[in-house]
Amino acid sequence: MPVFDHREFDQHESLHFVQDPETGLKAIIAIHSTALGPAAGGCRRWQYASDEDAITDALRLSRGMTYKNAVAGLAFGGGKAVILASGAAPKTPELLYAFGRAVEALGGKYITAEDVGCSVEDMRHVNKETGYVSGLPRSGDSAGGDPSPMTALGVFQGIEAAVKFRLGADSLKGIRVAVQGVGHVGIHLCRLLHEAGAELTVADVNRDNLRLVHDELPVTELAPAELLFADVDVLAPCALGNILTAHTIPRLKAKIVAGAANNQLATEHDGLRLADRDILYAPDYVINAGGIINVAHEYYGGSSEEKVRAEVSRIPGRLEQMFAESKKSKRPTNLIADEMARRIVASAGSQSPVAA
Ligand code: NAI
Repeated sequence: MPVFDHREFDQHESLHFVQDPETGLKAIIAIHSTALGPAAGGCRRWQYASDEDAITDALRLSRGMTYKNAVAGLAFGGGKAVILASGAAPKTPELLYAFGRAVEALGGKYITAEDVGCSVEDMRHVNKETGYVSGLPRSGDSAGGDPSPMTALGVFQGIEAAVKFRLGADSLKGIRVAVQGVGHVGIHLCRLLHEAGAELTVADVNRDNLRLVHDELPVTELAPAELLFADVDVLAPCALGNILTAHTIPRLKAKIVAGAANNQLATEHDGLRLADRDILYAPDYVINAGGIINVAHEYYGGSSEEKVRAEVSRIPGRLEQMFAESKKSKRPTNLIADEMARRIVASAGSQSPVAA
């Protein structure tokens, strides 16, 4: 399996393979860039079909974190960890301690937090072995804790901006939104959308999560395989990535794609496919930065929920700028965002980013 020549390697600073025979831990920590600060990005626990899939996911996610942190103006580089889930390696406190030791061994080059498959409670275990962890339980009004509500808030405000830009509507009242995945972020997003008067269609492969949203909100349910192609105004992917492809894009009915999932586009070219169909795409790492903003404020300390909210509310403005630039230059929004991110990273050194 090629590593340095891997199609997603893209000048990663380092890639670490971690194994702990006692607990069965197998993990990969990818550090894409520390140009703007320590590489920060959550830890995903997932059952991958192959080691190569796990490496590909770690590489794509960590580069995405470099771009996300740069555009969000954070003093963080980009990195990501994946823990390979398997029946032989249940998520025990001991396994998380072993993961914490691996993070500690990197001496602060990588800062972890929760992502899909990990929780605030899991990060408490990781924290027993390392201080290079965020997304820990919060106390009082201080910033921190589960980043998902802030991610959802940024996505919600980003959807408002996209709806205004693409559909000319000042409110979400009556706007039809399909939410794919009602987990940590998805359920918070559904609440905000419902309060704003949007009509919700949802799908999830997890019946328990679906039941929670059903019990609380008026939602229409669709089978997971149908949700992407629902007849709605906005598609909000909040499950996993690689869903916007040469096969799915021609069948989308939504005019806007704006959601929390990382790496929604299977390839860079899929951004052009969306633009060719006049579907407005909110670059994923721009709209979903609320969580990492929360993580940064917690990690650097001395902040409050109010300050995090104020920072998150800058997300729609960034998106509007990208939408306008895309329209003017007739180039897809994902390319506009990538160029902005690369410019910021390249200018590191000449200009220090401000610590959150
Ligand atoms: P989660 O694991 O809590 O929720 C994901 C949900 O998607 C689960 O309920 C799962 O059953 C469902 N799902 C999986 N495959 C599906 C499919 N094919 N169709 C429908 N539903 C499916 O994860 P979380 O934290 O809500 O994150 C969602 C996405 O947002 C992920 O891609 C994550 O990387 C991204 N993200 C999350 C942030 C956070 O603060 N939690 C921050 C930035 C990005």
